[in-house]
Amino acid sequence: MKIYEINKEVIKYRFGNPISTDVVMEKGIEIKKEGIDFFQLEKGESIKLSYKMYPDDLVLGLGENQRGMNKRGGIYESFCSDDPLHTSDKKSLYGAHNFLIIEGTDKFGIFIDYPGKVTFDVGFTHKDYLEILIDDNHVDIYMIKGDQLREIVKNFLKLTGDGYVPPKWAFGYQQCRWSYKDANEVEKIADGFLKNDIPCDTIYLDIDYMEDFKDFTISEERFPNFKGFVKNMKEKGFRLIPIIDAGVKIEKDYDVYEEGVKNNYFCVDENEKPFVAAVWPGRVHFPDFSNPDARRWFGLKYKNLIDCGIEGFWNDMNEPAIFYTDRGLKKAIEHAKTSENENLDIYTFFGLKDSFMNLSNNMEDYKSFYHRMDGELVRHDQVHNLYGYNMTRAAAEGFREIAPNKRFLLFSRSSYIGMHRYSGIWTGDNHSWWEHILLNIKMMPSLNMCGFLYSGADTGGFNGDANAELIIRWSQFSLFTPLFRNHSAMGTRNQEPFSFDQESKNMIKNTIKLRYVLIPYIYSEYMKAIINKNVYFAPLVFEYDDEMSKRVENQLLVGDSLMITPVYEENAKGRTVYLPEDMLLWKVEDYRNKSYQVVKKGHIYLDVDLKETPIFIRKNKMLILGESANNVENIDNRELHVIAFVTEKAKYSYYDDDGKSYDYKNGKYSEIIIEIEKTDEAYDIKVDPRENEKVEKIHFEIIDSNGNVTKKMVELY
Ligand code: GLC
Repeated sequence: MKIYEINKEVIKYRFGNPISTDVVMEKGIEIKKEGIDFFQLEKGESIKLSYKMYPDDLVLGLGENQRGMNKRGGIYESFCSDDPLHTSDKKSLYGAHNFLIIEGTDKFGIFIDYPGKVTFDVGFTHKDYLEILIDDNHVDIYMIKGDQLREIVKNFLKLTGDGYVPPKWAFGYQQCRWSYKDANEVEKIADGFLKNDIPCDTIYLDIDYMEDFKDFTISEERFPNFKGFVKNMKEKGFRLIPIIDAGVKIEKDYDVYEEGVKNNYFCVDENEKPFVAAVWPGRVHFPDFSNPDARRWFGLKYKNLIDCGIEGFWNDMNEPAIFYTDRGLKKAIEHAKTSENENLDIYTFFGLKDSFMNLSNNMEDYKSFYHRMDGELVRHDQVHNLYGYNMTRAAAEGFREIAPNKRFLLFSRSSYIGMHRYSGIWTGDNHSWWEHILLNIKMMPSLNMCGFLYSGADTGGFNGDANAELIIRWSQFSLFTPLFRNHSAMGTRNQEPFSFDQESKNMIKNTIKLRYVLIPYIYSEYMKAIINKNVYFAPLVFEYDDEMSKRVENQLLVGDSLMITPVYEENAKGRTVYLPEDMLLWKVEDYRNKSYQVVKKGHIYLDVDLKETPIFIRKNKMLILGESANNVENIDNRELHVIAFVTEKAKYSYYDDDGKSYDYKNGKYSEIIIEIEKTDEAYDIKVDPRENEKVEKIHFEIIDSNGNVTKKMVELY
C-alpha cells in the first residue's frame, strides 16, 4: 500500500496497480504513514475494511440505493444493475456510488474508487460494524476530512469535479411515456398541455421513434420530416428529448454497426470477435466506451439528431442491460429439452425455471466479454460500473465538440461517481407504489452527496398503474426535484396530468404551476450548489445539530431557505412533522393565494389536504418566487416576489444567468443580494443588484414571529 496526500483534507491509499477510472485527476504526494485511518484492513485476493461504528453514528451517502438516508442496517452492492423491481431487499440499483460519510463520534468521508463489485455491509451482518469488501486488491481509497457534513461533501466534490449544469428549460416540467408511437401522438400530447393550460417544457421520445431500435436513426414512417417536426414542436413550446441505448444493432449496412466493426470499437469476446448480446433490437454489439476513440466516434453520432434541432438526450440500458446471450439462451433451451416429458420435482422444476429467469443480466455473461484498455484486454465485470459513465461521458464530450458553449440536457440511467461532471441521472424503472415516493425522498439527498444534483425519479412511477392521488402527491414532491419528469411504461395506465378527472387534473396543474413559480429559487439554489460544491437537497442533520434532526428521514431541506414535508401515504390528510426551529408555513393550493402561519418548533401533526403542498420557510430565510408561464423561456421575471420569515435578519443571494451557455464560468451571471433586518417598528430592506440585468421590481411579504405580514416593494432602477 502506498499513501498519498492529495491535499490537506484528502488522503489516498493505493493498493496494487488499479485500473484508471479518470474520476480523480490529482496524483498527490507520497507520504509515510502507518495503516489506514479509522479502519482495520484485511488484504488477500480481495480487500476488506472494517470500522466499528458507535451506537449513534449515522452512515450517509451511497447515492442511488435502497432503504434510508441513514444506511445502517443494510447491505448494498455496487454493481450497476438493470433490475426494475426496486423492493427494499435489493442490494443494487442502476448506479454505483461508492462514497459514504460517517457522522458521529468520528466524522469523515470515504470513497472507494474501484469499478468492479464493492459490497457495503453497514451493520447488516455484524450490527456494529461497517464492512467494505472490494472484489480485488487493486484499488484507490480516498479518506476525506471535514468538520461539517457540508465540508466533507465539498472536499469530496473538489476531488471529483464540477457538477453538470443543464439548460434552464430543463428545470421545467417534462412529460415522457414509453409508447408515444408516432408524430401524431406526440403532437396530441403537446396539445393536451396547451388545451388544458398546463405548463410543460419537453416531451420525450422513447425507443418508439427509432427505426428497429437502432441508435441515431429515426423511423421515416412514424416520424416523417423529423427536422420539420422538431421545429414545429419547438414553436409550440416543446423540446423533444430522444433516448439513446447502449447496444448497437447488428445489421448489415447500418452505419453505426459497420463503422464500429471496421474500427474495432466494440467490446470483444474471448476470441477477440465483437461480443454479441441481445437487447431491444435483438442481437447487438456494445461500444467499448473505455476506448477514447470509440467514445469520440459515438459521441459525435449524436450530431445526427442535433442537426435536426434536438437539444437533449437520455442515455439508457447502459449498465449495460443484457436480455440474453446466445450462450445463455442455448443453455436454457437445452435444459428445457432435457426436462421435456419428465416428472419434475420441486428442485428440478425450480432449476429449470431459474435457467430462464436468470437469462438477463447474468454474471457469466458479464464475465465473458472484454474491453481494450491501454493495449490490454480487461474483463468486463472488473470495470462494469464504468460502462454507463463512459457512455455518458462520450455524449457530453461529443456535445462539447459539436457546440462548445451550448448546454444540453443529458441524463443517464447507469452511473458511477464522477459522471456528475457530464450529466444528471434518473433513478430508473420504479413502480407506481406509494413506497416509491418515500424511497425517492430518501434517495435525493444521498445522490446529492455523491455529486448528482440534476436528478429525479419517474414521477408517478414507471411500472404498474397509478391512480390520480398518487400522481398528485408524487408531483407535490417532484416539483422540488431539479429533474421533474412524469414517465410510465408501455401498457400501463396513462398518467399525463390530463389523464384523470377534472378535479385531479386541476390539482396537478396547480402543482406544476407552483413549480414554475419556484423556478427562480430552484435555479438559483441549484446553481449556487454547483458553484460552491454543495448539495441542493439535504437531510436536516446538515443544518441542525439536535438529536431529533439526525433521525428524520421523511423531510428534506431544499436549498438554503426551505424545508419540505411531502405526504407519501395513500388517503392521508396530513402527517407528522418535526420542526427543529420555528418556521413559516405556506400551504399552497394555488400559488396566487398566499396565507401564512408561524409554526413553533417541535413535533406537530400537520393537516395537508390533497390539493395542498406544504412549504416551510426557515427562520430568517427567504423564498424567491417568479411568475408562472407555459414554459421556462416564457417566464417573465422582471418582477420577483419574496416571502421572508424574519425575526432578526435574513440575507439571500439570488443567482441567475443566461440559462443556456457556460458563460457563467467566466463570471457572466447576475446576482442580487437581498438583506432584510428587523428594526423596532419595521424592516430595513437592502437590495444590492451586483450584476443584475433583468429584475426591475421586488415585492416583499415579510412575516414576523407573530405572523404579522408587512408588504413592501423595492424598485431596482
Ligand atoms: C428502460 C428504461 C425506461 C424506458 C424503457 C424503454 O426500461 O429504464 O425508462 O422507457 O427502457 O426504452
